[in-house]
Amino acid sequence: DFHAVIPAGGVGSRLWPLSRAEAPKFLHDLTGSGHTLLRDTWNRVLPLTGSDGIMVVTGRAHRAAVEAQLPELTDANIVLESEPKDSSAAIGLAAAILVRRNPEVVIGSFAADHVIGDAVAFRHAVSEAVAVAREGYVTTIGMTPTEPSVGFGYICCGEPLAIEGAPHAQLVTRFVEKPDLATATEYVASGEYLWNGGMFIARADRLLEELAQSQPELHTGLVRIAAAWDTPVRSQVVDAVWPGLLKIAIDYSVAEPAAAGGRLAVVRGTFPWDDVGDFSSLAKLLSNGRVGDLAILGEGARVLADSSSGVVVSRTSRLISLIGVQDIVVVDTSDALLVTTRENAQRVKSVVDAIKQSG
Ligand code: GDD
Ligand code: MG
Repeated sequence: DFHAVIPAGGVGSRLWPLSRAEAPKFLHDLTGSGHTLLRDTWNRVLPLTGSDGIMVVTGRAHRAAVEAQLPELTDANIVLESEPKDSSAAIGLAAAILVRRNPEVVIGSFAADHVIGDAVAFRHAVSEAVAVAREGYVTTIGMTPTEPSVGFGYICCGEPLAIEGAPHAQLVTRFVEKPDLATATEYVASGEYLWNGGMFIARADRLLEELAQSQPELHTGLVRIAAAWDTPVRSQVVDAVWPGLLKIAIDYSVAEPAAAGGRLAVVRGTFPWDDVGDFSSLAKLLSNGRVGDLAILGEGARVLADSSSGVVVSRTSRLISLIGVQDIVVVDTSDALLVTTRENAQRVKSVVDAIKQSG
């Protein structure tokens, strides 16, 4: 009665021009594993669920690419969105559909675009989280923070929970999504906080209860769609309801209020974890494809480097030559070229915003 949900919707704009609306981050092989991040995510949870136990929620535009990556995926386990409505709608709809098929179901939501180093330790943590979720807690996996990043949720750990099969579970006393830098710095220094790893494990009925409390209209909309899902009127109901749904991340709609009410738990993850937010973190991650001080991603990239370091990502046939440049990021694709420094890698998102603005 455990079912995985993989929301695959974010674009990953800080990885532009590699990650694009048409080819978002989860459709890339960023580790040199030979698999896209989406396929890696699937493979990682597969031993816990079997292929009938994984639901993928993605945009209509990505259907063909997702199915090519996951040929085992059946119609019963794919949810296609006409437009992105953020993670509460994506995960909430999966929960609402799955709970109708099995009222006892525990779901685990796993981001499609993370890199996780030790699949065995990952599954161990998830198994603990499932045991905690069965007791009614919404459960997260917490990662030990290494820097005061403002891109993450922060989890304040409270007392240990005595739950069989979950020796590392703790109650969460506070969840704060994406605090400002001063607050994040304070949290990391205190040693009491973990990063939210972006995974939520809960009984589907409990997750929906949280949503009903905090966002009743969104909850009602999702329940209406789910009621029509396995019927002939699915598309009419979806077309009528989906466009009006509130866009809100699940961290705000579920995690923060559940923590405030003493209903959020955390299991500390001990596996290597990276959300590969930008090219600087990608550079740290790329141990394969290293040429001297350059991290190179891209099949057959032809790179000549002299006294240079940084990251090069290439999807072109052009020869790339670097001379005497340090900590540089070069991303060459057939129609767009990015050159920046690792230090400025976080700012790539603003380029994407500017392109969107100028149409
Ligand atoms: N299908 C679908 N549709 N999926 C979506 C949508 C959507 O509209 N929006 C987001 N998602 C998916 C993303 O693909 C990803 O798998 C997951 O939901 C989380 O969304 P992100 O947009 O990547 O969130 P984030 O990285 O800013 O923050 C989350 O992850 C951090 C860890 O990487 C939060 O959970 C943070 O608290 C957490 O620390
Ligand atoms: Mg993310």
